[in-house]
Amino acid sequence: MQNIFDKLNRPVKDLRISVTDRCNFRCTYCMPKEVYGEAFKFLPKEELLDFDEIEKIAKTFASLGVTKIRLTGGEPLVRKNIEKLIKRLSKIEGIEDIAMTTNGYLLEPKLDSLIESGLNRITVSLDAIDEKTFKKMSDQNFDVNKVLSAINKANEKGFEQIKINCVVQKNVNEHSILDLLNYFKETNNIVRFIEFMDVGNLNGWELSQVLSIQDILEIIEKKYKVRTLDENYPGEVAKRYLLEDYSTEFGFISSVSKPFCTSCTRARITMDGKLVTCLFANNGLDLRKPIRNGCTQKELDEIISKVWENRSDRYSEIRHELTESKNHKKIEMFQIGG
Ligand code: GTP
Ligand code: 5AD
Ligand code: SF4
Ligand code: SF4
Repeated sequence: MQNIFDKLNRPVKDLRISVTDRCNFRCTYCMPKEVYGEAFKFLPKEELLDFDEIEKIAKTFASLGVTKIRLTGGEPLVRKNIEKLIKRLSKIEGIEDIAMTTNGYLLEPKLDSLIESGLNRITVSLDAIDEKTFKKMSDQNFDVNKVLSAINKANEKGFEQIKINCVVQKNVNEHSILDLLNYFKETNNIVRFIEFMDVGNLNGWELSQVLSIQDILEIIEKKYKVRTLDENYPGEVAKRYLLEDYSTEFGFISSVSKPFCTSCTRARITMDGKLVTCLFANNGLDLRKPIRNGCTQKELDEIISKVWENRSDRYSEIRHELTESKNHKKIEMFQIGG
C-alpha cells in the first residue's frame, strides 16, 4: 500500500460511495418534490456504476490508503442486491470498516442479509420522531415507527452504537433535539445533530435557517448535564459529548459554524462514477469512462492519485467568500451522499 497526500497534506482514508440517485423519501432540504416529483428522470441503470466497477474503484482506493468505506445514496437500500456489493467490498485487502448511511425505512427486513454481507456499521438519518414533523420533513406519508422499530431490531441483532443523524432546521424541527435525546438516552445509540448545510443548489439554504451547535447545546443544557468527550480518531466529523446522568454519547456536526476541512480525508464517488474531492464541489472527474474503456488497475491508480495530489478543497472554511459570489454551483446531496 502506498499513501497519497493532497496539497494540504491530507491523506485519503475514507471513501464515500453513492450507489444510487434514487430515494424513497423527498426530504425538503435534499430532494424537494417540486423538483424531484413524479416526472423527474433519475439516471437509467446503465449509467450507474455496476458492482464490478465499484469494486475496482474501491480496490484502487484501498491500495492508496483508504481503510473505511461508507455507502450512501440517495437511499442505498433501494439499490438492488446491495448486500452482494457489501460482501465484495468487505473482502478487499485493507478495508477495515464498511458503513452505510440510510433513512432506515427499508432496513428491518434487510438486517439479516446485511449482517451476513459483512456490513459493520449503520447510520440512520432521522430528523424527527413525532409523526407530523417526520412526515413533513421527509415529505412522504410514511410511518416513523417503521424506522424506530428497525433501529431497535438492528440493536438486538448486534449493531451497536448506531448513529442517528438529525439535520436541525430553525423553526422546523428544533423540538426534535430534546425528543431524540429523550427517546435514545437509555440506548447505546448516538444521536448527532447536524447544522443545516448549503449543499446542492435547490434547497433554498439561508444562514438564517441554521441552528448553530451553540444554539443546540443551549437547548440541551436546559435539561441535561453534559460534558465533552475526546475524539475517536483525528479528524472525526462529529464533536463528541456525553449526557452525564445516562453515560450516553451524543454529538454535533458543525460544518457551518466550525468547519473541519483541515483534517478532511474523504473522497466521494457519485453513483455514475465521478470522483469528487469535496462535498461542495461543482464537479468531479469521470472514472467510469476510463474504466469502461478497459483501463488497468494501475492506470486507475494513476488517475486517482493525480486528482488527490492536486486537491486543495476547503469549502467550509471559505464558505463565506464563495456564497457571497452566489455563482458557485454544487453537486446535489442525493448524488453525492453527504
Ligand atoms: P463516521 O465518522 O464514519 O461514523 O461517519 P460520518 O459521521 O462521517 O458520516 P455520515 O454519513 O453520518 O455524515 C454525517 C454528516 O456529516 C452528514 O450530514 C454529512 O453530509 C456530513 N459530512 C460528512 N463528511 C463531511 C465532510 O467532509 N464535509 C462536510 N461539510 N460535511 C460532512
Ligand atoms: N445539511 C446537513 N445535512 C444534510 N444531509 C442531507 N442534506 C443535508 C443538509 N442540507 C444529511 C442527511 C444524512 C447525511 C448523509 O447528510 O440527513 O444523514
Ligand atoms: Fe433521501 Fe437522505 Fe436525501 Fe432524505 S436526505 S431525500 S433520505 S437521500
Ligand atoms: Fe472536506 Fe469539503 Fe467538507 Fe471541508 S467542506 S470537510 S474539504 S468535504
